[in-house]
Amino acid sequence: MSRKKKQPVYNIKIDAYAAEGKSVAHLEDGKVLFVENAVPGDVVNVRIVKEKKSWAEGKVIELVDPSPLRVTPFCRHFGICGGCKWQMLPYPQQLAYKQQQVADQLQRIGHVPLPEVQPILGSPYEKYYRNKLEFTFSNHKYRTQEEIQAAGDAVFTPEPALGFHAPGLFDKVVPIHTCYLQTEPTNLLLKVLREYAESRKLTYYDYRTQEGWLRNVVLRISTTGEILVNIVIQKENEKERTELLDHILAHVPGITTLHYTINPKVNDSLHDLEVRCYYGKGYIEEKLGKYRYKISPKSFFQTNSYQAETLYNVTKEFAGLTGNETVYDLYCGTGSIGIYCSEGAKKVIGIEVVEDAVKDAYENAAMNGLEHCRFYAGDVAAICTDEFFAEHGRPDVVITDPPRAGMHEKLVQQLLKMRAPRVVYVSCNPATQARDLQLLAEAYSVTRLQPVDMFPHTHHIENVALLELKTNSN
Ligand SMILES: C[S@@+](CC[C@H](N)C(=O)[O-])C[C@H]1O[C@@H](n2cnc3c(N)ncnc32)[C@H](O)[C@@H]1O
Repeated sequence: MSRKKKQPVYNIKIDAYAAEGKSVAHLEDGKVLFVENAVPGDVVNVRIVKEKKSWAEGKVIELVDPSPLRVTPFCRHFGICGGCKWQMLPYPQQLAYKQQQVADQLQRIGHVPLPEVQPILGSPYEKYYRNKLEFTFSNHKYRTQEEIQAAGDAVFTPEPALGFHAPGLFDKVVPIHTCYLQTEPTNLLLKVLREYAESRKLTYYDYRTQEGWLRNVVLRISTTGEILVNIVIQKENEKERTELLDHILAHVPGITTLHYTINPKVNDSLHDLEVRCYYGKGYIEEKLGKYRYKISPKSFFQTNSYQAETLYNVTKEFAGLTGNETVYDLYCGTGSIGIYCSEGAKKVIGIEVVEDAVKDAYENAAMNGLEHCRFYAGDVAAICTDEFFAEHGRPDVVITDPPRAGMHEKLVQQLLKMRAPRVVYVSCNPATQARDLQLLAEAYSVTRLQPVDMFPHTHHIENVALLELKTNSN
């Protein structure tokens, strides 16, 4: 039975958590219904937004009877801002769903024999755990349905906002006044920027017309107390820029590096732009275990430094190094995992596509007095050829930490050819990890699984899998 588009369905009891932040219920006709922003035990009214033969997707329009699992969200921006969407669940419950999701995805998609999934390692900090945040200036403030309804027929004039992009809307921004994801001076900086922009009549970027001066602000705060700020503007105006940057330094204590970037492009990405240093040494340092890391403004670094150490400890243990191994660190970023595991390795070879990150990786190795680590810039699937392995040595251990899309199939085929005795697969997406494990099952058994929670109050999961070469594999 097909319903009319957008027709509501009433009093739907949510049965279970599904994946990717969605929960699942069953409609009267037996169809499976996926909904966001609902938790098992809730009774909700839902508007159907997509409908197929056996399943449908819906949006909650009313929470009729809240689940006993629910707790009161701590953030005033909850429900509007796209971050921290799981605040309505107590942290132990979030962890239980993440644990279950790793097992479900690996079984359903991977179809390979699996060991028991070890209990997920929760984050010691549920708030203030991110070392990097990016905020956006937009001259179109996001308005909630309540605000729109309350305004009736009145026409809104666009208002500027500094905060996070509203979910699914490229041009609208939810103004953020207090964010619990990062320690101070984040909220202070937002306040200082907002007040200064208002007093100087500085314009916020318009994503539709591509006009407006202020675009983004990126903050990185390390556990060592260093603070890096990058202010992104649409075009150069030296006088205005210098005054803004001086104002920030005078009113936000603790900044150790202040950058600015001129971005005249349509999109917000900074990878192809020059990040210029206005004040300080131009990067921040982070410390994980006994290792120090330099992080440049364009380099990837794990965003939860506290849990990065936990993640790397698991990786190191799974790698089982004895001092004689040639270790490949694929998708190595700033070389952080390879360096963390370097003590037990004969040599470490890292591969990463971002050139600045590779430069950082070399500096990181030098900073830590390591002479047996080498790093190469380029696409990992293109670099990992027979010739490359012949030149640098057959891998004893491969550590791979790809982005959400997982590994390129060409790389998986190459790993199958190389037959490293151990592969440690660090993943931020169990669905693509499951797909890759299935491909690797031709030669590998999955022997250990350890989820680590890097992102409390979100549905994102990190999972580490140990793959060991099958004894009959040649
Ligand atoms: C999840 S991060 C892991 C980084 C690092 N292992 C760490 O723990 O910080 C994935 C990294 O893969 C890099 N990357 C993405 N696609 C790549 C590719 N095709 N070849 C090489 N590196 C790639 C990204 O720039 C990023 O640094």
